This record gives sequence, C-alpha cells and structure tokens, in this order.
Amino acid sequence: MGTYIINGRNRLKGEVSVSGAKNAVLPILAGTVIGANTNTILNTPNLRDVDIMEKILESIGCHVERLDNLIYVDSRNITSIRIPEDLVSEMRSSIILMGAMLARCGEVIISYPGGCEIGPRPIDLHLKALREMGAYIEESHGFLYCKADELKGAEIQLDYPSVGATENIMLAAVRAKGTTLIRNAAREPEIIDLQNYLVKAGAKVSGAGTSVIKIEGVDKFKDVKHSIMSDRIVAGTYMVAATMTEGEVTIKNVNVECLQAITAKLKETGSQIYYDNNSIKVLGPKNIKSVEMIQTLPYPGFPTDMQAQMMSLLSIASGTSIISETVFENRFKHAEELIRMGANIKTVGKVAVIKGVKELTGAKVTAKDLRGGASLVLAGLIAKGTTTVDNVVHIRRGYDSLHRDLKKLGADIIEII
Ligand code: UD1
Repeated sequence: MGTYIINGRNRLKGEVSVSGAKNAVLPILAGTVIGANTNTILNTPNLRDVDIMEKILESIGCHVERLDNLIYVDSRNITSIRIPEDLVSEMRSSIILMGAMLARCGEVIISYPGGCEIGPRPIDLHLKALREMGAYIEESHGFLYCKADELKGAEIQLDYPSVGATENIMLAAVRAKGTTLIRNAAREPEIIDLQNYLVKAGAKVSGAGTSVIKIEGVDKFKDVKHSIMSDRIVAGTYMVAATMTEGEVTIKNVNVECLQAITAKLKETGSQIYYDNNSIKVLGPKNIKSVEMIQTLPYPGFPTDMQAQMMSLLSIASGTSIISETVFENRFKHAEELIRMGANIKTVGKVAVIKGVKELTGAKVTAKDLRGGASLVLAGLIAKGTTTVDNVVHIRRGYDSLHRDLKKLGADIIEII
C-alpha cells in the first residue's frame, strides 16, 4: 500500500507546477463513450483513479492509449454494457458512467457503489434525475440495471447541488431528445471543464458555473481534443505546505479564480499570497494565526477537499480554530492521526475544534482517505523527528507526484513501495 517517510522541519522553497484535475478528468473520460468518436485528452494527471477509469473504458470496448499526459480514447466500438464490479468498488465516482452509457447505449449494468471512507455517499439524486429523463432503473442484489429506449429532456430541480449528479445528468442529456434544464446545479469549476469538453465534441450545453445548466440533445458528435484544467486541490495543498513551513513557494499552472476561498483562509493565517494570471506565490508566516471558522460548502464556498489539509495547518496555529464540515458526514478520520502526532483536536459530529499546539512530533500514522492522507504528509513536514505515513495508495488516487514535488521544494521525504 506504500509508505512515506518524512523528516520534518525543512523550509520549502522553489517552484512547482500543478497537474490536471482529478475531478475534471474523470467525468470527461466517462463522457468519451457518448460520441462514438475519437478523443484526445491532454494534461491528464497520472493517478490511480485515472488508471481505473482507463480500465473501465477498455473493458467496455473502447480503444485506449496513453502517452505521458495524453490519453486517447476511441469509443466507436462499444462491446459491453456491464461496468466491471471490481473496478466500480475501487472508484465510487465510476457511477458517472451511468449517464454516459445511457446516452450512448440506452442500457447499462453497474454495481451499486457502496459507502466509502468519508461517509455513506448516496446516489438518490442521480437516480431520481435519470428516472425523470425516462430511464427505467432497477436496483437489485447490489446492482443497478438501467435502460432507456429514449432519454427525454427534462426540467430537473436538484435538492442539493451534487457535483456527481450534475455531471451524470449533463452526460445523459447531451444525447437525449429535447432540452434538459438542471436547476440548483453544482457550480464547481470542473463542471465548466466538462461543458467545454462536451461543446468541443458537438454537444449543446450552456450555463455551467451557474446554478442553471441547459442542455439541448444532439445526435451527432465529432472527434475532439481537450486539455484538462489544473487541479485546484493539489494547488491548495501546496499552498498549505508553504504556509506551514514558513516557505517561499511559487505554484505554476493554476487558475487563480478557482482558489479564492482557499487563498482567503490562508491569508487569515498570516500567509502572504501574490498572484498573476496562472501562478501563485506563497510566503508562509513566522507565526501562524488561528482562524475563527472554516465551513465547507459547495463551490464557491470553502472546498471540503481542502478541509483535512487546513486542519493540519490549524493544529500548529496560535489560538483555537473551528471547522464545520457540512458536505460529508464522516470526514474527520485524519483528526485521530493528527492527535497521535500531538495535535489538540476535538470533534463532535460535523464540528472540529482545533487548539493550536507549539509543535507536532513525528509518529507512525495511517492515511485513511485521499485528502486525510495528504494532511498527514503536511503535518510530517513540520513535525519534530520522523513521520511514517502508511497506506499512501489513498494519496495516489488524487496526487500525481506529491512526494516528488515536495522533495523538489526541499522536503526530506522518501517513498517506500
Ligand atoms: C465530488 C468530488 C469530491 C468532492 C465532492 C464535493 C469528484 C470525482 N469527486 O464528489 O472530490 O469532495 O464532489 O465537492 O468530482 N449526495 C446525496 N445524494 C446524491 C448525491 C450526493 O445525498 O445522490 C450527498 C453526498 O452524500 C454528500 C454531498 O451530497 O454528502 C455532496 O456530494 P457530491 O457533490 O455528489 O460529491 P461527489 O460528486 O461524490
């Protein structure tokens, strides 16, 4: 499962470049099945979740080739409507293939994605919307059998702006008959990237980035070339690393606008942040200040995917901070591990109270999920002594080169496979 060994206390300095976004590339790769076309996807990150999506596409008949950061998908010949169970169980977000496969084949069999490390993650909103578009969905023995002789455009009001549900509906709707409106749609930047890809492929989609997305179904698609947007969570993680280590780090290939919520909170901790069009420079403070409250929210609020990293940072701030996790139910597993390193954190339900301590001490800790794992690496960077982070397989789901980038910036970190 992989281990990182970190000797803490090095100040990070230098430049690092951010890879393509996990949460953009996954729905776009799912989208490649729709058009019976060829897709050249550039700036794809080298992640375990991307490997899984690649295997899924191959298993249903797509021809996939990969060369460094380019993935080529030829979806002209789909041979199976069954998404392999073992791959779905490894990556919950494979559920977005439901909309894409319904659009392309009118039929799909996929196993029910169970709970995961950060809570139960139901898919009721996905299923309700697809049914409203005319899909017949039967749930039995852990499988979802979905069929639609013809998907029809519909007006869909989401009860919550779910990222995955918004994407699933967009993918289903691009080939449906008529017009679909998604109200209370998620506004995450990765949804704009999905729209950009779909439009290049010939779809008629508008409104992504706002809470109303309009999709007019079409039946002809063309070959497409698209470059994936940069990963705002990877950028945010490096910004936190610079802040924690009193570092001086320039992060390149970022979209500054997408980072505003993170930037605002880091400034409250005393970090100095400068930016131009696509790079950000972070100067970490001598004394990290606590923040009154961080509440995770759908975009443009503070991202839940940065909550764990901020907890790590606030654990060494002077003063007490509060984090309220409103997006996921069970997303504080990293707190127990940070406590093992000397942090003073109390969690009650969805609230964590973090009393800053003077220093953390290296310990043997375990990554229990992707972002929680990253938060332990960050803690290791400033802890006294040696930190061993086990189970880094979770971290590889979402970071292309975390330890290599940190090493390049001066961290003493090695990976043992
Ligand atoms: C996506 C991101 C993930 C991020 C999350 C929130 C991808 C691949 N993953 O996950 O990194 O943390 O957005 O920004 O893009 N919910 C329901 N019913 C549903 C769907 C969702 O109750 O049908 C709930 C979930 O349990 C969760 C909340 O809504 O509590 C947000 O989930 P959602 O926005 O769907 O997140 P994901 O798409 O799973």
